Amino acid sequence: RDYKIAVVNGDGIGNEIVPAGVSILKAAAKKYGFAIQTEDFSWGAGHYLKHGEFMPKDGLELLKNFDAIYFGAVGLPEVDDTLPAKDYTFKVRTELQQYVNYRPVKLFSGVKSPLRDKTEKDIDFVILRENNEGEFVQNGKILYPDTPNGVAVDTSMVTRLGVERIAHYAFKLARKRRKKVTNVTKSNTLIYTLGFWDQVIAEVASEYPDVVYDKMYVDNAAASFVLKPEVFDVIVTTNMIGDILSDLGGAIMGSLGLGGSGNINPEGRFPSMFEPIHGSAPDIAGQNCANPIGQVWSAAIMLEHLGEKEAAKNIVDGIEHATSQGNLTKDLKGNASTSEVAARIVDFIES
Ligand code: NAI
Ligand code: MG
Repeated sequence: RDYKIAVVNGDGIGNEIVPAGVSILKAAAKKYGFAIQTEDFSWGAGHYLKHGEFMPKDGLELLKNFDAIYFGAVGLPEVDDTLPAKDYTFKVRTELQQYVNYRPVKLFSGVKSPLRDKTEKDIDFVILRENNEGEFVQNGKILYPDTPNGVAVDTSMVTRLGVERIAHYAFKLARKRRKKVTNVTKSNTLIYTLGFWDQVIAEVASEYPDVVYDKMYVDNAAASFVLKPEVFDVIVTTNMIGDILSDLGGAIMGSLGLGGSGNINPEGRFPSMFEPIHGSAPDIAGQNCANPIGQVWSAAIMLEHLGEKEAAKNIVDGIEHATSQGNLTKDLKGNASTSEVAARIVDFIES
């Protein structure tokens, strides 16, 4: 087996944590007898400053030649933040039909959750964020920008196809876990789009009588993340709600820097993209202090998706080894550097 991986560091800490992740991928490939061929694409806000675009016009076509995309994050303080989604992240996610955003939340041993009384068995669930439509379709307008009372609109869009496919993915995943799906919604106020969303999810739920189906409003869900995270197994939710709740998921794991994810095209028609849940963290970039674990976990999720399940598990065990030995970066109140944590995980894989 020989995998072609497109590597997009992006901006800020992406330039530190992505190479760390690639070194771990290569160590796992060597151990488990497969090959990882990488090709680097220096796209992002830095590319925009030089060339006026986040990626070249043929960027999506180039990405289609790979088995998967390994990505950091894009965005720089000096570049208008209304551009990245339009020019890179949302574009890749939608054009390559990566309609599942898979974002696991779990407590690694040796890491303290800010939820003091919660243990590893209490914090272990997956957020499935609908990744192609909803609130983020970027169909809107500033209607009267120059009047004293400016008016702007964004249209949220939900389709039957879009809801059905993420719902089926959720129920199938739940069957492999603790057999519970929670639909996190806000249909009591977004009565059209999310009323329809709820209706379609309930229809799909009826095809999986062996899975417990529950509906929860997002305001209650936010509180429940903090007070009783143990009620969740698989969460299925919309693009914006999933975006916000996954940072909260990162926080209850102990740091945003721990969250890994996959933007998945389950049919395998297009390559999927694997990236940490956080952004480019320009406030700590260039200091070799960023937590690489979310990026490394994303590598494991990528290998799992490619079918290299043992290698994927070994990487997660390596993360757990590093954290349990107190190999923690600054965000986790430790004093290890980015490269030290990565080296510890490589050592574990090679041992
Ligand atoms: P952020 O996630 O980059 O940072 C939020 C806070 O978490 C910062 O204090 C940062 O230092 C910390 N943090 C994040 N990752 C960390 C890590 N691995 N280790 C230690 N600490 C970490 O979010 P922010 O500040 O809102 O956005 C910064 C830039 O990133 C913006 O330009 C934004 O648009 C972009 N962004 C890009 C994303 C993507 O490309 N997928 C996703 C989210 C934000
Ligand atoms: Mg986000």
